[in-house]
Amino acid sequence: MILGISGGIAAYKSVEILRRLQRTGADVVPVVTEAGRKFVAPMALESLTGRRVSSSLWNDTDPIPHTSLGQRADLILVAPATADLIARYRAGLASDLLAATLLASRAPVLLCPAMHTEMWEHPATQENIDVLQGRGVHVLEPAEGSLAGGDMGIGRMREPAEIVEKAQQILLSDSPLTDLADAARRMEGVRVLVTAGGTRESIDPVRFIGNRSSGKMGHAIAAEAARRGAAVVLVTASDARTPAGIEVIRVQTAAEMEKEVLSRFADSDVVFMAAAVADFRPRVEAGSKIKKSDGPPLLELEPTPDILARLGEEKASQFVVGFAAETDDLVENAKAKLERKKIDLIVANDVSAADSGFEVDTNRAVLLWRAGEVEDLPLALKSEIAAAIVERVAGALED
Ligand code: PMT
Repeated sequence: MILGISGGIAAYKSVEILRRLQRTGADVVPVVTEAGRKFVAPMALESLTGRRVSSSLWNDTDPIPHTSLGQRADLILVAPATADLIARYRAGLASDLLAATLLASRAPVLLCPAMHTEMWEHPATQENIDVLQGRGVHVLEPAEGSLAGGDMGIGRMREPAEIVEKAQQILLSDSPLTDLADAARRMEGVRVLVTAGGTRESIDPVRFIGNRSSGKMGHAIAAEAARRGAAVVLVTASDARTPAGIEVIRVQTAAEMEKEVLSRFADSDVVFMAAAVADFRPRVEAGSKIKKSDGPPLLELEPTPDILARLGEEKASQFVVGFAAETDDLVENAKAKLERKKIDLIVANDVSAADSGFEVDTNRAVLLWRAGEVEDLPLALKSEIAAAIVERVAGALED
């Protein structure tokens, strides 16, 4: 594994990242940019790895280190990844050993950005991140916290434990769920509608009934469909980053989601209902904040519209994919939903496990097709589960 270190104050954490990686049994080769050398002493990395730390394309005994390093790597982890390094990587520049290694490798890449809030939020950086994610690069987005110079805000590199865990997840998911030949299955000209996130049903102006959905699964589906050339509309109740190159409609409630989905259904070829739509909402929304001193209110609930069931009723040639979030009797319950809602495919998620379902970056699923086929998708990153689902659906459209 290559540990790339670019020039930011967070580089001081790279020694701990290195140690933690080594404890997992990883053979780590550090590659430090010239700016990175100003923040972390190469000697520290050299004494921990027993390897000479490389920065330059020119002063190595290996005549072509920029290709040999990348070719041998099982993962390239860049922590910290500065705005400058990210921009060079996006542009395909090979101006130092780290940038050249990134360019000359087919290994998975994990970027851990660290920079000032203004730099992170700058449209140039955000666009670079979107483009790189679209190319399949993993990004562990920065957290909020104290930054160099005493500033506070988003831009702080994630903690070493989290970074190493993410790197391990990527390595573990090395059993691709999509085979390379099928990855070529394109969706040009296909109009895809995706829903994501958990809807919020207002109790009063400050409180709501919600659920744990982060929107990650639905956003990953939208990104994958767009990557394959589909024209994607994402109706999302999540604040999570949205993939580049798609139309995004933000909603809050089940009723808003229903309106947006139904108005686009006739112009869609495929619908993925990954959203966790509330099943119930308060019958009445209080116009002003309910006072604590009035005691706990008794909430009268009413059912929300079942959007997916309505799509199943109204569908003509559309291919409709539902999701099922289950804590028990996964396959039986999901199969019942597939039939009741008259859809083509249901993606059954076991949401009782800590590593799958809501919020986390990983998922496992069972695909249940209308014709009766069943396929298990083992634990993998949500981006990989999304790739597998979209690939299978693209295949079904071709048949
Ligand atoms: O967002 P993440 O944190 O990444 O988590 C992903 C996920 C677990 C939310 C996702 O993978 C998932 O399982 N989504 C479906 C969640 C859900 O609401 O399941 P359900 O079994 O209650 O609903 C079945 C289907 O009916 C779903 O496609 C749902 O979108 C749809 N539905 C449900 C209720 C309703 N009123 N209208 C609907 O359309």
